[in-house]
Amino acid sequence: MDRRILFLPGDGIGPEVLLEARRVLEAIGEIHGHRFEVIEAPIGGGALERFGDPLPDQTRALAVEVDAVLVGAVGLAVRSVDGTQVDASRGLLDLRKLLGNHANIRPVSVPDALVDRSPLRPDRVRGVDLVVVRELLGGIYFGRPRGIEDGVAFDTEIYTEKEIRRISVSAFELARTRRKKVTSIDKANVLESSIFWRRIAEEVSRDYPDIEFSSMLVDNCAMQLIHNPRQFDVLLTSNMFGDILSDEAAVLVGSLGMLPSASVGGDIGLYEPVHGAAPDIAGRGIANPLGAILSVAMMLELTFALPEEADAVRDAVNRVLADGYGTADLIADNRRAPVSTAKMGELIVGALGATRPAGAVGAASGARENGC
Ligand code: IPM
Ligand code: MG
Repeated sequence: MDRRILFLPGDGIGPEVLLEARRVLEAIGEIHGHRFEVIEAPIGGGALERFGDPLPDQTRALAVEVDAVLVGAVGLAVRSVDGTQVDASRGLLDLRKLLGNHANIRPVSVPDALVDRSPLRPDRVRGVDLVVVRELLGGIYFGRPRGIEDGVAFDTEIYTEKEIRRISVSAFELARTRRKKVTSIDKANVLESSIFWRRIAEEVSRDYPDIEFSSMLVDNCAMQLIHNPRQFDVLLTSNMFGDILSDEAAVLVGSLGMLPSASVGGDIGLYEPVHGAAPDIAGRGIANPLGAILSVAMMLELTFALPEEADAVRDAVNRVLADGYGTADLIADNRRAPVSTAKMGELIVGALGATRPAGAVGAASGARENGC
């Protein structure tokens, strides 16, 4: 079966990391006998420059007809189009809306090989395995009214019962496949929207008596994530709180460059590394492609129902890290100098080749390519 995937490299380091993600996807296809057809289209600041739209019509049209979409990164460019300020990041927000993926899944687990490379003490981060389930289509990101008028700026945090219920259900269902614990994050001591969020999350929790449930204030959660991160299994959050907490959680793994994400709930899965465009390091060949590569693993598992192939990618990543390799963002292992983006991609492809299943399609040619 042919699988069509839309790659949206975007801005900054996006194209560099997607190039390595593509190599890994192609290697998986060759080793396991799948055909992945990759199509590319513009998104973000580059698209805004060229087409006056950070999500041009041709990209929209392709996004709704492929099997899955992989985004690199979207930058911070702003341009005035017909008298209105348009942000490049609008391209990503519009894409999420277009695909209707309300649940953003951001797993944060610390591989043994990175325990010593986190800026936090090893005893704090060893064994961390949590996932942020972030509501992606509502809240202050999209709420109306919003604007800057007469010296006043305003945004609106707004959540309907339906939105809170459906993201809560996603979090509880995911918890059932894991350690069976959901912590819902809010600011219910201050915000009406959070009081309501907490009430609905609690209501949904009654349908899941097998899941341990609690609510936690977001400021406390920010502290607990550093102080005692192993206590968390599934973190259920609004759009804004999930955005902030997932960047914080990345520190546990040692680098934001490591984190993948999947956005699900619509018909077509959307996958993106959690990091941004990082213009300061773009084009220098030093970006970490593992967030993008691990997003491919999530795509293999969630969209294509290929858990073995997804595990092969994750195993390859773990083995390369265990060998002491890392890009410059990961605190260097004293056994090795940091490797480039392209070298990291090559190492992962090499590690995949080393574990190809017996009798796998393309085994002979793959072995030659990998120099074994
Ligand atoms: C993320 C990013 C985006 C977000 C930006 C680029 C719009 O920070 O995916 O976490 O805020 O959702
Ligand atoms: Mg973010």
